[in-house]
Amino acid sequence: MKKIGVFTSGGDSPGMNACIRAIVRTAVYNGLEVYGIRRGYNGMIKGDIFKMESLTVSNIIQKGGTILKSARSMEFMTKEGRQAAYDQLQQHGIEGLVAIGGDGTFTGANIFHEEFGIPTVGAPGTIDNDLYGTDYTIGYDTAVNTALDAIDKIRDTADSHERVFFVEVMGRDSGYIAIPCAIGGGAEIVMIPETDTSIDYVIDTLKAGWSRSKTSFIVIVAEGDEEGSATEIAAKVSKIIPNMDARVTILGHVQRGGAPTAADRMLASQLGIACVEGLLAGRTNEMAGIINKELVYTPFIETITKQKLINPNFTKMVDILSV
Ligand code: F6P
Repeated sequence: MKKIGVFTSGGDSPGMNACIRAIVRTAVYNGLEVYGIRRGYNGMIKGDIFKMESLTVSNIIQKGGTILKSARSMEFMTKEGRQAAYDQLQQHGIEGLVAIGGDGTFTGANIFHEEFGIPTVGAPGTIDNDLYGTDYTIGYDTAVNTALDAIDKIRDTADSHERVFFVEVMGRDSGYIAIPCAIGGGAEIVMIPETDTSIDYVIDTLKAGWSRSKTSFIVIVAEGDEEGSATEIAAKVSKIIPNMDARVTILGHVQRGGAPTAADRMLASQLGIACVEGLLAGRTNEMAGIINKELVYTPFIETITKQKLINPNFTKMVDILSV
């Protein structure tokens, strides 16, 4: 293998740039030519491909976002789109790929590999931390710390005004972001898709708190919770407790930006190196990850079909610590 391509796809996450840097430099270190593919699979289809050198990735390790841009490609979901992408890779002489992204990215990579057989190794880049095959994904630690910083500030005003705040965090169908935000942010209640927390439970917990002279509350709601969005949950609770002074804060895309934490830079660098070394060792259709401090490679199909379970003790911790 002489030429490899690298791209970022799906929702961006802090640390993607550190990962790109590690991939480019590991390729150069091993005498490979490395090509950047802009805007994920869309750029692959269009041939938006450029040669990267060691200096192309100078001064990016500390930056959020992705210098390669990102996209969720509808065209790559079609056979014609994937054929066009393959033709472009052939034209550029690209023999191997490193994909940085989440489950959508690896779903695409898996199909592409089945159809065209281009060796591909992936790095888990998503704030959601919902990928099986790694304890942490690149960007998760930064996103949690960004959210936690906002929750600390909300706590100040919640306390001053003696209010109930319903704070919605990202995470798609998983509660991985919500859990450390709730425990680290001292929340009274956490609502995540993986466990059932009913509206009745929320009402009982608030009432019990008021009866113990608690005056402010933080309820962390994962965006994928079955009871609905933070806005819907707040409305349901307000219907039963109309005099509750409640506010809703949706943290949204602020969680996706910002300089990566030290942990994310370290993880991104480790996994970037592992992706290129994996390709050179003949690996394909696998994601590099870290489990219990050990480097592991997991087939794409497992990363997207197996569920990474959340320790149920974590929701119990929120109950215990808010008594
Ligand atoms: O997958 C990352 C993520 O930020 C999810 O937490 C969220 O549900 C989604 O992406 C938002 O996507 P978009 O940026 O396309 O609105």
